[in-house]
Amino acid sequence: VNGPALSLLGEREPAIYGAVTLDEIESSCRAWGEEHGVPVCCFQSNAEGALLDFLQAERHRASGAVLNAAAYTHTSIAIPDAIKAVNLPTVEVHLSDITAREEFRKVSYTAPVCIATVAGKGFDSYLAAVEILLAWLAGA
Ligand code: DQA
Repeated sequence: VNGPALSLLGEREPAIYGAVTLDEIESSCRAWGEEHGVPVCCFQSNAEGALLDFLQAERHRASGAVLNAAAYTHTSIAIPDAIKAVNLPTVEVHLSDITAREEFRKVSYTAPVCIATVAGKGFDSYLAAVEILLAWLAGA
């Protein structure tokens, strides 16, 4: 589940976020899912409410979520509330290392309700996150 401006990955600040597009990230996650027998469903929106609607709509079908809430990570209370409400194990993911950037990015309102956070590995953050989620589900 990807939040605002991640639709522009590849052209958006490539020095920070890399050259990989969201399409490529989604395809890699789906391919990883096929290899591991785990169907992966991808969604992106620039709108906070649409992210909430998606999590709510998928809450019975999904076993867990990998979420890059993008800038909403640092501002939204509604997103962590939604993660708790839908009760899906969620891994927070970021391409960049949010702990090594501006002060305001060091605050994540989603981290406390997530089972793990992966940041700073670029595109590989997503694959690390799905691995963590699958391992968590296997042990749950
Ligand atoms: C981001 C980091 C956020 O601070 C930023 O607002 C983003 C992307 C990342 O993946 O590194 O939009 O979540």
